[in-house]
Formats: sequence, C-alpha cells, structure tokens
Amino acid sequence: MNHFLDIHKTAPSDLRHMIEHAREMKTAREGRPRGALDDDQPLKGRMVALIFEKPSTRTRVSFDVGTRQLGGETMVLSGSDMQLGHGETIADTARVLSRYVDLIMIRTFDESVLTEMAEFADVPVINGLTDRTHPCQIMADVMTYEEHRGPITGKKVVWCGDGNNVCASVMHGAAQFGYDVVFTGPEQLDPEAEWQGLVRKSGQSFSIERDADKAVEGADLVIADTWVSMHDAQSARERRHNMLRPYQVNEDLMARAKPDALFMHCLPAHREEEVTSAVMDGPQSVIFDEAENRLHAQKAIMRWCLDV
Ligand code: CP
Repeated sequence: MNHFLDIHKTAPSDLRHMIEHAREMKTAREGRPRGALDDDQPLKGRMVALIFEKPSTRTRVSFDVGTRQLGGETMVLSGSDMQLGHGETIADTARVLSRYVDLIMIRTFDESVLTEMAEFADVPVINGLTDRTHPCQIMADVMTYEEHRGPITGKKVVWCGDGNNVCASVMHGAAQFGYDVVFTGPEQLDPEAEWQGLVRKSGQSFSIERDADKAVEGADLVIADTWVSMHDAQSARERRHNMLRPYQVNEDLMARAKPDALFMHCLPAHREEEVTSAVMDGPQSVIFDEAENRLHAQKAIMRWCLDV
C-alpha cells in the first residue's frame, strides 16, 4: 500500500519520481483553463475523501481541483461533521471509508490519527498536515526551488522562526533530497531532536544559529512560517511574538543571503510579522508558485499512491 505519510518514510527514488511527474503534468497543462481536464484521466471512476479537522485553503482547493483534473471525484468532510468527532474510533472510520472511497487525504491534529487511519484503511492515506509534519508542502517547495534554480541537492536552506511541523518536513526533505538546513530561532522553539538526528544521520548538515544575520549568510533558500501555528494556544501569542521578532524575514535579512537566494512561505502569512510585504512581494519571493505547485505535486502524489 502506497501511503504518503511523511517525506522520511518515502523512498528518495519515489519522491524524485513524483517531483518529475508533477513537473511533466504541469508543463502539459500550460495555457489551459484551470478547470480543464488533463489529457490522461487516471482517476476516472475514483473517489477521493478529503477530511479536514483543521482549516485549509490551499490543501483543500488544490486536492479538490487536482483530483478533478485527473478525472476523479472528491468529497470534502469536516471532522466535526463525521462520527470521528463523536467517538467512533479511527480504526472503524478507516475500515468504513475504505468501502466507499479509493483514497483518503486527512488533515488532523495528532499524528496518531493519521497513522491509525493508515494502519486500518484498505486504501492509500495521504498526510495533509498534522501537528508534527506537512509533507505535501515540502514536495511543492522542492519542485518550486528546482523550477527556478535547478537541483536542490547540496543547497543551503535556512528556516527562520518556529521549529514547527513544516520545519520538520523541511528537515525530512534534507535527508531525502540532499540539502543542508540551518535553523535560526529561539531555543524554546527548536525543532525536535529526533529530526535533528535524522538529518545528521543522513550525512546532510543540520545546525542551529541563534543570530539570524549569521544564519542566512550564503543561503540559497530562506523559509519562514507563521509565528502562531493552528495547533498553538492563542494565549501564547504575545510571548511567541516577543521571542520570534528577531527572526522576521525582511529586506535587510534577505540581503545577507546569496544574491540569487529564493524566499518561500507555505502560506497563509501574517504580513509584517514573520515576513515583510517587501520580501513577500519582492523579486526573490516564489510564494505563489509554491502555492500553485501544491496542485501539481499532489496530483503526482495521488497517482503514486494509486499506481496510476
Ligand atoms: N500551506 C497550507 O497547507 O495551506 P492551507 O492551510 O491553506 O491548506
């Protein structure tokens, strides 16, 4: 069963195949209306369940549109509307959904919900974000970097701010795609030690630099994310802002990276907090290509899951 649960749980050759496939599908659609079907209809007759226990714009729309472009159909389910939110076990939900649909994408809180869904489903399961990881985002990020600058292997990627779930998947990508990561942020928000070890064990470099100016020197790619994630308590907002303010990505910081460095953000962004509008809308920013590439990358992920 080809579940897409995490970058580090997927073979590098499969990840590379998906990136290439995504690029081919994107090229083949150039100039067509967004709603036009692809020439190939590998999901024709297939039903995809999109389960959201948290809000989403990009993940929801890109999976929905991507499935339709491939000829399939979707049903979008909110966790609170399902029995899942009222005590039915994850295992029973997985078994039942497997009788109705061909593929399950789930965005949830605790990683255990995702892994239990995958354990008991008879159909592939895709991780659409948990509190711990966001692998679909990193597939789009690698695709986007390589579209603009060529192979990401050997490049220096700097993560600014909170060592959160997206940062975790960036670190998993380092091990699988062969880039180095520098984390710059407050000690309280360091990425999990397990992920630090995973990068280092892979032979790639992972380091922590508390001084953001030093961290971005020689960077090929600078990434930021919101200072308060969906799973963070809103009561911690002021404390987190105070801790994270020195790690804002602004024009002065970007000027310390390589002249051809790119800026990425998974979005949604809080302008003038973790990143300034000058950077978001500036020449080094590829944030909207990154958002578009969620669509193409996830089409490749779904095709890999279903082997179609
Ligand atoms: N980047 C991302 O996953 O966006 P959404 O939360 O809007 O899906």
